[in-house]
Amino acid sequence: MEKSIEQIHDDALREIEAATDDETLKQIAVRFLGRKGAVTGYLRSISQLPPDQRPAAGKRANEVKKLLEAAIEAARGRIAQAAARAGGDIDVSLPGRPARAGSLHPVTRVNNEICTIFSRLGFDIAEGPEIESDYYNFEALNFPPHHPARDMQDTFFVSEAVVLRTHTSPLQVRVMERTQPPVKVIAPGKVYRCDSDLTHSPVFHQVEGLLVDSNVSFGDLKGTLTTFIHQLFDKQIKLRFRPSFFPFTEPSAEVDIMCVICRGRGCRVCSHTGWLEILGSGMVHPAVLENVSYDTSRYSGFAFGVGVERLAMLKYGIDDIRRFFENDMRFLSQF
Ligand code: FA5
Ligand code: MG
Repeated sequence: MEKSIEQIHDDALREIEAATDDETLKQIAVRFLGRKGAVTGYLRSISQLPPDQRPAAGKRANEVKKLLEAAIEAARGRIAQAAARAGGDIDVSLPGRPARAGSLHPVTRVNNEICTIFSRLGFDIAEGPEIESDYYNFEALNFPPHHPARDMQDTFFVSEAVVLRTHTSPLQVRVMERTQPPVKVIAPGKVYRCDSDLTHSPVFHQVEGLLVDSNVSFGDLKGTLTTFIHQLFDKQIKLRFRPSFFPFTEPSAEVDIMCVICRGRGCRVCSHTGWLEILGSGMVHPAVLENVSYDTSRYSGFAFGVGVERLAMLKYGIDDIRRFFENDMRFLSQF
């Protein structure tokens, strides 16, 4: 007898452990367990042993055969796992799972467009807090204490002297406090009002604009806003300046554009007037300039506040402002 069964066992295990592919494993199985393999040869040779040793030798040889079969099976699993980890099991011809591309919210898109148009006109961009003091939201803007003008905008109060800003106009004061004329800024942001219907949302976006310099006239205001609206929509769109009132501008005007939903015929969106209000504006009130210690004999300016959702409604023909905030994918994925 050439090799002991223990020797065969050890040799086979060493080879099985070193194997890194299925083909090698198959060959090992043939060489040790096949018809002409080492274990099989050993089993045959048992007949040559003295009779008293044959039962124990046969038992051990069968054990070794089972152990090696199990070791080969385990090695096969180990090799398959390694291959999967290395990407060997991935079917590269399968079509991939498409990644769903997101898109910008329509309000964000219009907001960005507004900022782009005014940037091209030379306006800088400023930002300020949404939780605002009564001073910046009202007082510095010439709303006297207890004046009914405070009721123009239904306010969410945080405390007696702190509010959720009802408009972006506080930025006028904040920017002028820290800069000297010429001032030419826009300030986009969220504002809050106790207000809700087809065209009013309790949270909405405004873009404030402020230009202060020497010799600024109402003509500059009209020209700037008309250019803006013609760039955002197109030259055909009809707009009108309508006299209005704000404590912080004098004179004041609101701008309406013809309702694109009904093309001016009148519908529920425009309250059957044919027009939709998109912004408030006016010449900065001298009292506001004095609050930030600007010399009113040298400087004048205009300001405006645009409702972003209103513009988005008109641009995309949306007849209910609440659609923007319902997060309905069927609605949002159209943009
Ligand atoms: C103001 O908020 C003034 N701060 C605008 C202003 C700025 C005037 C600078 C003069 C100088 P008003 O309350 O009208 O004004 O709002 C401005 C615009 O915001 C409106 O024209 C409208 O387009 C939009 N808006 C007002 N309330 C809502 C609301 N609840 N939901 C959606 N949009 C609104
Ligand atoms: Mg208004």
